[in-house]
Amino acid sequence: MANVIVVGAQWGDEGKAKITDLLSKSADYIVRYQGGSNAGHTVVVDGETYKFHLIPSGILYENKICVIGPGTVIDPKILIQEIEDLKTRNIAVKGLKVSTAAHVTMPYHLAIDQAEDRGRGNKKIGTTGRGIGPTYADKADRCGIRMSDLIEAKELEEKVNWLVPRKNVILERLYSLPPEDPKKVFEEYREYGEKLKSFVADTSALIFDAIKNKKNILFEGAQGTLLDLDHGTYPYVTSSNPVAGGACIGAGIGPTSIDRVIGVSKAFTTRVGEGPFPTEVFGREADELRATGTAWAEFGTTTGRPRRVGWLDLVLLRYAVRVNGLDCLALTKIDVLDNLDEINICVAYEDSLTGAKYYDLPLASGIFKRVKPIYETLKGWKTSTNKCRASNELAPNAQKYMDRIQEILEIPIAIVSVGHKRHHTIIIEDPIHGPKRVLQKG
Ligand code: GDP
Ligand code: IMO
Ligand code: MG
Repeated sequence: MANVIVVGAQWGDEGKAKITDLLSKSADYIVRYQGGSNAGHTVVVDGETYKFHLIPSGILYENKICVIGPGTVIDPKILIQEIEDLKTRNIAVKGLKVSTAAHVTMPYHLAIDQAEDRGRGNKKIGTTGRGIGPTYADKADRCGIRMSDLIEAKELEEKVNWLVPRKNVILERLYSLPPEDPKKVFEEYREYGEKLKSFVADTSALIFDAIKNKKNILFEGAQGTLLDLDHGTYPYVTSSNPVAGGACIGAGIGPTSIDRVIGVSKAFTTRVGEGPFPTEVFGREADELRATGTAWAEFGTTTGRPRRVGWLDLVLLRYAVRVNGLDCLALTKIDVLDNLDEINICVAYEDSLTGAKYYDLPLASGIFKRVKPIYETLKGWKTSTNKCRASNELAPNAQKYMDRIQEILEIPIAIVSVGHKRHHTIIIEDPIHGPKRVLQKG
């Protein structure tokens, strides 16, 4: 048995859902531990495309328990929509469990998130507008509404009557927005609570029992390492902890129960929203990169915004290895690079002001926003990888590309994804049961 965390190693959208779906086959429980409906997780199975915001990607398998943990924030409207969508597509949701302790995104959170980001002008974050920051802010401020409140009408009414008038002051005075009617909010959310009641449970106890019974648990991260509130490119981050350490807090289990951590990275880099991005490419170079192959389709799953694109940044990934304690990597979308003559990888940064070189991410200071990438240029493989099912079927230059990545990161690539479907995958070594690699004692 093994308990495994799947974590985004970049700025989100690395293809975590594809990897989670793949690994879910051998898991009993699949647990989302942070984030909310800002996530957009795409899984393609049997020609059908599923886009999840809150429900763990493992739901497509029968007889799995899929947990939305205490560290998440839930927009009940979106969760109900997702449940209904799955039911219409004949996917059973009986294994879905939602934590009593997860916080609820309320209408004022959505309004404040959108108005606040608009009002920031050139300091805007480019949030998904899904109310994530304000929901987590209320959680930290101890005035949040939790799933346990949502399903108890009396609790909900009391909290709505307390909170809505206070939020109305902010909505009206700070953002010149119309106030919300507490009665209407209560009625609407009471109904959501009724619909979700049967799914709500003490999921931390559930997971503990599962661990005791030697079940296999897969923890599915949302967003990515560089969007982490504490360890990402602050303030251009989300309001939760996507890093592997967040899985313990967000699921309510101890770190001693974790066996392995798998990082997911694209074979290049993308970012949605604002913030520094040293290897970003623009203009013709970006268009060429985007136009490569037909599979690129770099548009945000949740907002539909075009993703910013750039070369693979190994300084950033080395940091992801460090802060997550990655044991191995799943490298996705390698097929997107199939047609390129040459491919750049960033191996270090240079401070554009002082000329100093950096091999580790200079995040603590303001230096990160002014670094320039130092590239190594590798030859492209100019042949399709999409039909490869074993690493020795990959063109020698594709293998060289992966060798160089492994050499610099000092962890192996266990999975290579060569297309968006389940079978577009090369398993190089067992991603779940392989040896632990980072900072082993003894
Ligand atoms: P997540 O948020 O990390 O789960 O990633 P998203 O679902 O937001 O974005 C990843 C996109 O890439 C989705 O459209 C996937 O279907 C697609 N995808 C995943 N792996 C591959 C791959 O190896 N090749 C290609 N071409 N697309 C992939
Ligand atoms: P998945 O799970 C990519 C980005 C937003 C913005 C910043 C803050 O699909 O990888 P927020 O709405 O969270 O307050 O926005 O974080 N962001 C994501 N980018 N993938 C995601 O999720 C993201 N979730 C949030 O674009 O820059
Ligand atoms: Mg996504």
